[in-house]
Amino acid sequence: MKNNELFLKAAKKFGTPLYLYDLRIVEERIKKVEDALKNVEHKVFFAFKSNSNVHILKFMKKMHLGADIVSLNEYKMAKYAGFKPNEIIVNGNGKKVEELIYYSKEDVACVNVDSKEEIEKVPKDVSLRVALRINPNVDAKTHPHISTGLKENKFGISLEDAKDVVHSFPSNLRLVGLHCHIGSQITDVSPFVEAIESLKKFVTEQNLKLDFINIGGGWGIDYLKNGNEMDLGKYKQEVVPLLKSFDLPIYLELGRYIIAPAGFLIARVTEVKKTAFKNFIVLDTSMSGLLRPSLYGAYHHVEFLSNGEKITADIVGRVCETGDTLAKKRKVPQPKVGDIGIIYDVGAYGYSMSSNYNLALRPAEVAFDGKNFQLIRRRETFEDLTRLF
Ligand SMILES: Cc1ncc(COP(=O)(O)O)c(C=O)c1O
Repeated sequence: MKNNELFLKAAKKFGTPLYLYDLRIVEERIKKVEDALKNVEHKVFFAFKSNSNVHILKFMKKMHLGADIVSLNEYKMAKYAGFKPNEIIVNGNGKKVEELIYYSKEDVACVNVDSKEEIEKVPKDVSLRVALRINPNVDAKTHPHISTGLKENKFGISLEDAKDVVHSFPSNLRLVGLHCHIGSQITDVSPFVEAIESLKKFVTEQNLKLDFINIGGGWGIDYLKNGNEMDLGKYKQEVVPLLKSFDLPIYLELGRYIIAPAGFLIARVTEVKKTAFKNFIVLDTSMSGLLRPSLYGAYHHVEFLSNGEKITADIVGRVCETGDTLAKKRKVPQPKVGDIGIIYDVGAYGYSMSSNYNLALRPAEVAFDGKNFQLIRRRETFEDLTRLF
């Protein structure tokens, strides 16, 4: 089925707005990851924050990925999706003491500890396998909101401070690895090279005996449709040899690279508004359905299944905020009310960041496996909104 036919069929069958995930693309992306890393012993953990639909998570498990979680509820969801504690890595800053106790009882694979303060917080009778999150002060050359490895960012511990910390771990905590995640949507390999080189130097200088190195996620995708995404050829040439030099298993926590390009937000046009100054195409979704453009000014490719004359327009939602702009100054065929618009690359940080702002109902989610559609989350209803009162 050609993509446009697929989008039309899905919209007709399930209504709009609708998140559609093409599982064939997820498989392709995982194959690319595996191919890039085939010369180094590794394990990929799927970053739940990017997409936490349980059907997607089960699919990741089927594809032999582990789980990277950042909250107790993500942990519970990992178990619900069938992941065993020893396949789950716990991330996140500012963990609560009761959460650390919980993870210890569960015997999770590893907790990535974020600070000296977090280490001190673990009660002395609570044992955990931990990896220390290093903040290498590397510029990931990405959007400031998704850069995490600069000294001014809230994450991790500096290499300088880590020197003392690694040699004074309390006996109830076993330091099994180092962790480093420098940011997201990174398309240039050089920040990875820089970060991994500094980890390597640290491990050697401090003479650390570890079970693994966790280099986080962050591989970028081609939102702009100009062919610029994480260059896996370069990654193999420049990063993989560095990874091999540790002579340890390498862990990765990937989200966006695997799932973003597999997701499409299908919406219908509710109005085409023309002013003396600008044209607006209004969709039946908004910043409540897809926050990234409003939050980061993120670019998503948008297409309309229309054959009108080309116009230049801002594509907006129906939320009462000027920031509710999904795409700016796009040259597209002028759609009619009811036509379908498709927002690309929304599989990661799409539904998972959606909200009920303006009491918008969250869209339905559907997976397509090449043959069949499966409704993997029903559309919210008004009753869902009143349930907690
Ligand atoms: C600690 C950690 N690991 C992994 C990820 C996943 O990043 P990405 O989706 O860019 O691969 C994130 C995302 O912010 C993160 O904070």
